[in-house]
Amino acid sequence: MSTPARPVHPLQNKTRGSAKRYEEAKQWMPGGVTANIKYFDPYPIFMESASGAYLYDVDGNDYIDYNLCYGALMLGHGNPQILEAVQKQFEQMGTPVLGTPHELELEMAKRLVELVPGVESVRFTNSGLEATMFALRLARAWSGKKKVAKFEGHYHGGYDQVLLNVRIRERKQGMPPYVCADSMGVSEEIRKQTVVLPFNDWATTEQILNQEVCSIGAVILEPVQAGFIPPDLDFLKNLREYTHHYGIPLIFDEVKTGFRVGLSGAQGRYGVTPDLTALGKVLGGGFPVGAVGGRREMMELASPLRSGDILSGERNQEGGSTLFHSGTYNGHPMILTAGLKTIQALEEKGAYQSVEDATMRLQKEMEMILKRNGFCGQAVGVGTIFNLVFSNKPVREAQDVLDSERTLRRKLDNFLLEKGIYIKPLNRFSLSSVHGPEAIAETLTRFEAGVKQLKKG
Ligand SMILES: Cc1ncc(COP(=O)(O)O)c(C=O)c1O
Repeated sequence: MSTPARPVHPLQNKTRGSAKRYEEAKQWMPGGVTANIKYFDPYPIFMESASGAYLYDVDGNDYIDYNLCYGALMLGHGNPQILEAVQKQFEQMGTPVLGTPHELELEMAKRLVELVPGVESVRFTNSGLEATMFALRLARAWSGKKKVAKFEGHYHGGYDQVLLNVRIRERKQGMPPYVCADSMGVSEEIRKQTVVLPFNDWATTEQILNQEVCSIGAVILEPVQAGFIPPDLDFLKNLREYTHHYGIPLIFDEVKTGFRVGLSGAQGRYGVTPDLTALGKVLGGGFPVGAVGGRREMMELASPLRSGDILSGERNQEGGSTLFHSGTYNGHPMILTAGLKTIQALEEKGAYQSVEDATMRLQKEMEMILKRNGFCGQAVGVGTIFNLVFSNKPVREAQDVLDSERTLRRKLDNFLLEKGIYIKPLNRFSLSSVHGPEAIAETLTRFEAGVKQLKKG
């Protein structure tokens, strides 16, 4: 008996060039991609160029981009001010990178201290991953305790200490999450050193923290889960009070929310200040970046004035110990130039309001289109990011997303890609300052066509 032919994926007819390149890429890179998150079925689309709110693929198709490099491009693609500033900076310096301290580091550090409430002192990194990794090391050095408490469904980058319980697994409400590694190679030792907490469920969180309070050296969370599930204010405040009371450093991972939900991040929006903050994405204006900021006395643990430089082997007279933090490209001048220009643009009057208004319009109208076509879907979000969840239950935590109709959402995403709306399937929608009324209207037309196709089945 012959096996039935696989149904043709909605994308396949218009993305033959991507399919061909993907077949080749598989021979040279594991799974044909250079980051696991970039894969989706049947194959990722190979893009060639971008402008404003649009991406263009190798087959000549256009897409309105709602991935925006996983939220990083708050000003959209090819912002002319950023481009000009970066070119000018290169010419002025005569090189892309000096490999020494320079004034742009100083300028950006001052801006972050001015804008982000919990930041009194700053270190730059090359990615969000490095920022959370450094923040965790600082926190544990400060508290002198080993265990890390993180939240179910929260992502902090792809390294051992936090690659646990990012994937959501079924669990009964009120039951503590079972600690599970999400990657091969994460050791049992690390699993044992990790405590996993349920977001927006203070009673269970407090119960778990009480059991482990003597050994927890850091609590880290995304203040807005996955960039779109808002925190209950009381939950955030309770967590802040608890960690303060027991001397456990609280880290806000604002890699997604920093400069997305406002210039002062989620901590400014909700009025809850952490001890340490990790930043990234928007801060780089489209270039790879990260930063850690926090309480001065904590940050000072990283000062080489305490004990010298471990690589040269020299020790200072005081002979104290230092918390090591370094990186060849930390504080890269081209990147900080792009970041400073981005902040400057976002400081213009009404800059956030107009993106938030566009986001709100899109959310409301998408919900209406779904309803008109007989689907029950919510556009859940904060500020300039939202996600579509097929359920009528309030979405307060990871489990609520797990319980939603994800298969339906996945099918819709395939149709949306085919209609020219670019999102990573099942992922968030992020907007930018160039998603103006025309792009939004065009998106809604394409969205309705996708929903109608979903209805047809
Ligand atoms: C909240 C959060 N933290 C950390 C990271 C890791 O940042 P990067 O990919 O720049 O290493 C991400 C990336 O998506 C993120 O969303």
